[in-house]
Amino acid sequence: MTTTTHNYAPRHIGIVMDGNGRWAKARHRPRSFGHNAGRKAVREVVEGCLRQGVEALTLFAFSSENWQRPADEVGALLELFMRALDKEVDELHENGVRLRFIGDLSAFDKALQKRMIDAMHRTADNTKLQMNVAVNYGGRWDIVEAARKIAQAVANGELSADAIDEAAFDRETSLSELPPLDLFIRTGGDHRISNFLLWQLAYAELYFTETLWPDFNQAALQLAIDDFARRERRFGRTGEQVTQAAVR
Ligand code: IPE
Ligand code: IPE
Ligand code: MG
Repeated sequence: MTTTTHNYAPRHIGIVMDGNGRWAKARHRPRSFGHNAGRKAVREVVEGCLRQGVEALTLFAFSSENWQRPADEVGALLELFMRALDKEVDELHENGVRLRFIGDLSAFDKALQKRMIDAMHRTADNTKLQMNVAVNYGGRWDIVEAARKIAQAVANGELSADAIDEAAFDRETSLSELPPLDLFIRTGGDHRISNFLLWQLAYAELYFTETLWPDFNQAALQLAIDDFARRERRFGRTGEQVTQAAVR
């Protein structure tokens, strides 16, 4: 038998936390009940990542498209973010978690923006786990923002067009200072990206599970990590090359 697996844990995991609405519907409760139940799953994955020594965790909490949902659901979600920030940041900080929000925060009301910025400042020196929460985030927005910053630098004469390469572009995208995304997880059974990290997904391993987000827990995370460990990441090379490199 040949084994071609790699034996490292993912350094950076990204999760599309999907299925809250269906979870609530199955219980004849409003969708917001499902969003609220999803908080426990967030705590579970944070704890799981801390235990496994995962360096970075990026969670998709609210997409730039989610504004199109009914106003009462959007309102309930924003309310939930406020409460979660008030309640969870102490514990995250105690556990050495650095919290960052990615996305266009300017769309949120001032009180919520302030809580997000305060939480980022307060946890800025923590190093156990880099936790990023994507809110009003879109992968295309991220790429366009980077292009805008690059264009501005060229217009200002700080950068020549010839010097624009992948590394220079990457530096202007969200999460550029973190390890590359290794493992993408989507709960809730749909097999799509829904405008989550696009640039960053280039070589991530994709993992989809039927489990609805409020039911996701450390055991479910472990299944995803175990699955990841069985993947052969070839990055364009042949399986033989990868096996030889592992032996050497
Ligand atoms: C994901 O759950 C949470 C957010 C998008 C904020 P959904 O609310 O999309 O749940 P389903 O997909 O309708 O079950
Ligand atoms: C993606 O889920 C966004 C988040 C989990 C925050 P959606 O439920 O909004 O995605 P679609 O609409 O099914 O593609
Ligand atoms: Mg959904």
